[in-house]
Amino acid sequence: MAQIIDGKVIAQKIHEETAKEAAILKEKHNLQPGLVVVLIGEDPASQVYVNMKEKKSKELGFHSEKIVLDKNATMDEVLKLIDKLNKDPKVHGILVQSPPPPQIDEDKVIEAIDHRKDVDCFHAVNVGKMLIGKTDGFYPCTPYGIMKLLEYSNVNPSGKHAVIIGRSNIVGKPMMSLLVQKAKGADATVTVCHSRTKNMKEYTLQGDIIIAAIGKPEFLKADMVKKGAVVIDVGINRVEDKSAKTGYKLVGDVAFEEVSAKASLITPVPGGVGPMTIAMLMQNTVKACKIQNGIKF
Ligand code: GUN
Repeated sequence: MAQIIDGKVIAQKIHEETAKEAAILKEKHNLQPGLVVVLIGEDPASQVYVNMKEKKSKELGFHSEKIVLDKNATMDEVLKLIDKLNKDPKVHGILVQSPPPPQIDEDKVIEAIDHRKDVDCFHAVNVGKMLIGKTDGFYPCTPYGIMKLLEYSNVNPSGKHAVIIGRSNIVGKPMMSLLVQKAKGADATVTVCHSRTKNMKEYTLQGDIIIAAIGKPEFLKADMVKKGAVVIDVGINRVEDKSAKTGYKLVGDVAFEEVSAKASLITPVPGGVGPMTIAMLMQNTVKACKIQNGIKF
């Protein structure tokens, strides 16, 4: 049976580090990392995520703001807000929760954020820096969190075959970029599979590390996994469960029970990748504060 990678425990360790770094910034430089999370509209899942980000940043001693705009907010209103936040020296990190309502052009909003405040690493400048191996930008929170999960679990990707399922801008593509980098904790051989990949099993069976980020409930089955593989599950899917009070349960992109019998290490859902995303957002905010104040990071 696979050993569980406990994302909650690892995230907690990272939060402790972040709190220490925030305390040093206060003591030595009289600085407080500042994070603003912007929610446009009333999407229930986004509300939960935004509230968790606000709560955690407060706990860590950050300057923390949550700004909620009406679901009918115009592009003009959003861009004016971004402009104000870009100019505010208390604010080091700006995050606009995705997905926004349909009248909002997300690409334009991301482009409007000062790239030095882009703690999501969605801005083309930061994505480009990451791809060419520069370390003075940011890494996107979920793939960065997965790199940390591997590191804390003593899985060294160097020379291993990592197979990523999914090619989103938020997970699949940046994950590929981080794993393939010529760098400590990376150096993997990477294959990216996606919805148009033919005979996907042929690839996943070669994976020493498999990262499932395709957004399909329990997509990765045991017969697609090599014995001893490390399996990282990025999926969060609601599926009907009549026995649950809410009427649904959360499952990942991995058929957890059957894949556990084959993998050496596996992340659960919830409690695997999810907590790491917030931990890395907080780390990025501290880094943003340092960069904007000319402090070595
Ligand atoms: N929606 C789902 N994940 C994320 C994330 O990491 N950042 C933002 N801004 N929106 C999201």
